Amino acid sequence: MSGLKIFEDAKPKAAIVSTTDVDVIARELSAIGVQFERWESPVSLSPDDSAEVILNAYKPYLDQLMGAKGAGSADVVKLTPDNPNVAALRQKFLAEHIHTEDEIRFFVHGSGHFVMHVNDRVYDAFCERGDLISVPANTKHWFDAGEKPFFTALRVFTDTSGWVAHFTGDNISERFPVA
Ligand SMILES: [Fe+2]
Repeated sequence: MSGLKIFEDAKPKAAIVSTTDVDVIARELSAIGVQFERWESPVSLSPDDSAEVILNAYKPYLDQLMGAKGAGSADVVKLTPDNPNVAALRQKFLAEHIHTEDEIRFFVHGSGHFVMHVNDRVYDAFCERGDLISVPANTKHWFDAGEKPFFTALRVFTDTSGWVAHFTGDNISERFPVA
């Protein structure tokens, strides 16, 4: 079930908010500029479907989202526990970083934690199938789906250079093990 936990950044073990209520998640995240939505889409896909099939199935939704965001491209990112690079890929997303564009993801299968670090607070958003999250440019964050990640997500880019991270050098994700 999708969820949100909010912490003071100096107190990793004491959540001040913990909810699985989608409306509360959306409201709390909206307060820091993060968009969160559940899409009750009729699209039914298998984890084995190709990126092309997934992009085609979600085309009407993507066209609307990309229009709203002024986005230029979309792709599919998939990670499963049997990926030989799973540990390295996990590390790539795990260190706190920012982007110069919004980070927009829709979970087609599986789940993962998007963790935002804003105003001395940590917002751990557990996203699962059917969830859309859009993290604004320059928001400090990281992503973790654990040691055995399983997810397929649509990614929407406004910048033609794709996923480019600027790492903050803060090891806060080590102090906040969410997955
Ligand atoms: Fe990111």
